[in-house]
Amino acid sequence: MSTVNLSTKFCGLTLKNPILLASGTCGYGAEIADITDINILGGIVVKGISIRPKTGNPPPRIVETPSGLLNAIGLENVGLEAFLRDKLPWLCGLRTHIFVNILGDTPEEYAELASVLSEQKGISALEVNISCPNVKSGGVAFGTDPFAAAEVTRAVKEAAKLPVIVKLSPNVTDITVIARAVEQAGADAVSLINTLSGMAIDIQRRRPVLANIFGGLSGPAIKPVALRMVWQTARAVSIPVIGIGGIVRAADALEFLMAGAAAVQIGTATLINPKTGQEIITGIENYMKQRGLTELSGLRIS
Ligand SMILES: Cc1cc2nc3c(=O)[nH]c(=O)nc-3n(C[C@H](O)[C@H](O)[C@H](O)COP(=O)(O)O)c2cc1C
Repeated sequence: MSTVNLSTKFCGLTLKNPILLASGTCGYGAEIADITDINILGGIVVKGISIRPKTGNPPPRIVETPSGLLNAIGLENVGLEAFLRDKLPWLCGLRTHIFVNILGDTPEEYAELASVLSEQKGISALEVNISCPNVKSGGVAFGTDPFAAAEVTRAVKEAAKLPVIVKLSPNVTDITVIARAVEQAGADAVSLINTLSGMAIDIQRRRPVLANIFGGLSGPAIKPVALRMVWQTARAVSIPVIGIGGIVRAADALEFLMAGAAAVQIGTATLINPKTGQEIITGIENYMKQRGLTELSGLRIS
């Protein structure tokens, strides 16, 4: 019987498989290490890091919706210094790729993060978050304007010695315009989608549920939107595309790979079942075995 090769080349890196954990849903890795084997994954993307620590938005910050989750965490994180001191040494002990998600209020802040992180051992790539809908400055403000998106990308590329993945927002009219802009500005890859802006109202209290009023929708509810955007983007750019959005089962991941994603990230599903990544790897392997497919490249459809 033919053996299935799930390994894939991505921005000069060899991933053992195309399954990564998405930023903000696996902490800094250590939080989930006791309940799932991180080392079998292609990689993990750690929680977004800013230069200074952030406390995020006031609670309530999370609410469940039909087939989805609305969050308004507001990019709470330990900040660069504590990340380097307390989190990175542990991450370096893993036998999988570590992608660090970064965020700033100005292109200069993004560049400073890229420069400092590029000097560290153990980091495989940077993921540039220009797409968080839950913060007032930076975040999605860069991700919805092609000129601003390109400016941040250029600043990061000039400062970085690591592959640069730009994470795109779905809260735009045409995601391919932003994807092309960041590709021209030098991005090595794009990842999409971040969460879709949404809200929920508590009809008993007659007030928005989230203290921030708006939050970012994730989970199975967003998968068809994410898949459509990955399909469009994979045909609009020639850099690799990472698919994200509502992936829960192997079948979901396969849809993204067929749509043209080079790899996928799993977010909300990990919060429900931390072994989702592992189960999806096995599921893809079985699917390919049953069909006599040996390489991931055979999955893509035109
Ligand atoms: C609680 C939570 C926190 C998140 N934090 C970040 C973050 O810090 N940086 C980022 O780029 N995306 C963040 N995201 C977005 C996810 O990485 C992912 O793009 C999104 O949730 C869609 O994937 P999913 O439907 O599989 O969850 C967060 C998502 C959730 C649910």
